[in-house]
Amino acid sequence: MGLFDDVLKDSESLFLNEIMLDFSYQPRLVRHRENQQKYIASCILPLLQKRNGKNILISGLPGVGKTVCCKHVLKELHDYEDDILIIYVNCWKKDTSYKLALDICSILGYKWTHNKRTDELFNEIRDLINKKSLVIVLDEVDKLQDYQFLYFLAEEIYRKTIFLITNEKDWFLTLEDRLKSRLILENIDFEPYSLEQTKDILRERKDLAFVKGVFSEEAFNLIVQKAYELKDIRTGLFLLRESGNLAERKALRTISLEHATIAVSQLIDYQKRDINEMEDEEKEIIELIKDNPDKTAQELLDISKKDISLRTLQRKLDDLSKSGIILKEEAVSEQGAKTFIFRFGSIKTLDEF
Ligand SMILES: Nc1ncnc2c1ncn2[C@@H]1O[C@H](COP(=O)(O)OP(=O)(O)OP(=O)(O)O)[C@@H](O)[C@H]1O
Ligand SMILES: [Mg+2]
Repeated sequence: MGLFDDVLKDSESLFLNEIMLDFSYQPRLVRHRENQQKYIASCILPLLQKRNGKNILISGLPGVGKTVCCKHVLKELHDYEDDILIIYVNCWKKDTSYKLALDICSILGYKWTHNKRTDELFNEIRDLINKKSLVIVLDEVDKLQDYQFLYFLAEEIYRKTIFLITNEKDWFLTLEDRLKSRLILENIDFEPYSLEQTKDILRERKDLAFVKGVFSEEAFNLIVQKAYELKDIRTGLFLLRESGNLAERKALRTISLEHATIAVSQLIDYQKRDINEMEDEEKEIIELIKDNPDKTAQELLDISKKDISLRTLQRKLDDLSKSGIILKEEAVSEQGAKTFIFRFGSIKTLDEF
């Protein structure tokens, strides 16, 4: 073997298809959640017979597959039946009834929203939706700041199935009794995956994302173990990507235990800084970056549709990267200009490497 055989060339990459590690990537099959998918589908079934469906509250810790599972069922429903309206909204992004109403108008193709109040938008939505049956998923529903939209759904939409997703199981208890009794929710709780299930899910993503044979089994096992301990597949995906990046920055052809160990230590670093003590806005920015890695400040602003200036966002990103919570990296824009992209993780440990 020559001296440079295990060095990556400029044109080479350890990643075959890095998108497969994106948190928002929708896998073709959502394994180990078959029972939950069947149950969710059974709640929709009455709609196919023009009857009212069942409403459910889906709860479980972060990263246990609630969103990916629901989206999968919605996709199957969409492929099977086009007479049912399907709406998915994330309430972290649309956290008031007004924003929800605007978003749903846009999903339904209703354009005359300008200058309309929330109740006027509701009237339009009601007239459009009640012609059909509706399946609606309100993800991260605990982020909703007011419950007007939930009352509207419960009272004014006739044939429907409502799925409310949260990782705060007690959220439902905080609702007014009037609303609880109108929604009539059943609850399904997503338990964390077992070690074997965690391994299986992460192996599929690893095999899709990386060139065959570059990820050492020891490194992979460490990541599986960590994701299992933290009960969070998202953490596993993050560690896979970070380990790959660490090896690639060193122009190595193999991702070894050392890289996985460093990636895990970055995570510990991150967790030592108690996110719960941060301002809500900072937490939101971190979540935004976790969901959208390797984006510029402008792209992040466009995705979040946040009502802040680019300069304010840039300042916050700089603060987070200085304290080692996110990674700021130089990149080249499509126009060839120098720019910065951001990713979740700590730069401190990278420098030590
Ligand atoms: N069974 C599975 N098969 C394949 N990928 C999965 C599975 N479960 C989870 N994932 C992946 O793990 C990540 C986290 O899953 P998901 O977004 O569904 O979590 P969640 O329970 O909605 O978490 P949160 O409460 O934080 O929103 C996603 O990238 C998803 O693709
Ligand atoms: Mg989710």
